[in-house]
Amino acid sequence: MKGLVLSGGKGSRLRPLTYTRAKQLMPIANKPVLFYGIEALAAAGIRDIGIVVGDTREEIRAAVGDGSQWDVSVTYIEQDAPLGLAHAVLISEAFLANKPFVMYLGDNLLKTGITPFVEEFIRTRPAAQILLTRVPDPQMFGVAELADGQVVRLVEKPKEPKSDLALVGVYMFGPEVLESVKRITPSSRNELEITDAIQDLIDRGYVVRPHLVDGWWKDTGKLDDMLEANRLILETFDRRIDGTVDADSRVEGNVVVEAGAEIVGSVIRGPAIIGAHAKIDHAYVGPFTSIMNDVEIRGSEIEHSIVLEGSVLSDLANRVIDSLIGRNVRIYRQPVKPSAYRFMLGDNSEVGIRW
Ligand code: TTP
Repeated sequence: MKGLVLSGGKGSRLRPLTYTRAKQLMPIANKPVLFYGIEALAAAGIRDIGIVVGDTREEIRAAVGDGSQWDVSVTYIEQDAPLGLAHAVLISEAFLANKPFVMYLGDNLLKTGITPFVEEFIRTRPAAQILLTRVPDPQMFGVAELADGQVVRLVEKPKEPKSDLALVGVYMFGPEVLESVKRITPSSRNELEITDAIQDLIDRGYVVRPHLVDGWWKDTGKLDDMLEANRLILETFDRRIDGTVDADSRVEGNVVVEAGAEIVGSVIRGPAIIGAHAKIDHAYVGPFTSIMNDVEIRGSEIEHSIVLEGSVLSDLANRVIDSLIGRNVRIYRQPVKPSAYRFMLGDNSEVGIRW
């Protein structure tokens, strides 16, 4: 069986961060979200992995390389424009070589991994097996309708959903789907939709099996979901202190302090991770926070947030919460009057203030 990881796309919901970085490389608990997917495929015994890449191809190649760090072999498949999930399958025909495959959306995370689903697919060998989870807001998702233990209809973001079973971003297909991705036409948003391809399989009389996911699943394509995924992964961490913590500091609960990080006169309350060579100086880092390498938090408080490499927060009067802060960002207190906000923000930035 092969793996097909989708790492192209626009990433518009995570702008401005996706202007300068692939969303699949956004760190969740200080590890790129894409790496969790590759690990899940490798753990399921899948060694031959194709990665569909778009504008951010160079950055993804630099991070993933040839796959040897996971003992898998990686082939890069270029998608000229993000024309849909089914389009990504269509352009991967040569790589797929008529073999069954797992399609994994590169910004998705599944608590339980995918091994049991892959085993079930191999045992039962339907034309497709889709993972489903119950959601409170099915109109935001691809939704499945079931009858007699099979999928009978799929609708993308239905206005009036007939079930609360949303498609999770991991799919298993036999080679039959290749014909379907060629038969369908672009949707109103001008994409070849994978839901239409699966519906085409159903219409041609093939079996599409549902599988309900019981652990959590997260699509990290937007801010709130990234913070939640970060929380869910941090909750699985054990305590490990490889950096230095001075006598005036308190590190409480499951906290990872990477080698070279320095905690001075501060309180860190887990679950949290402090990256290599970060400095936490007379500051508070609260639960569910991931601080990447080379970040400095001085005289400030932060909680339930993600801070990327090289950023500095210093002497802030109020606690920072629920935030995603990009690379090399500086947030600091103005040393001189007047008391005023002073910003230099990229396009599509978002700032919430209540002073
Ligand atoms: P989405 O999150 O649905 O799309 P997107 O990346 O364009 O994001 P946004 O809606 O915020 O603009 O894509 C799911 C995954 O599939 C993601 O990892 C990107 C990838 N993808 C491709 O590789 N090719 C494509 O044509 C599309 C649409 C997505």
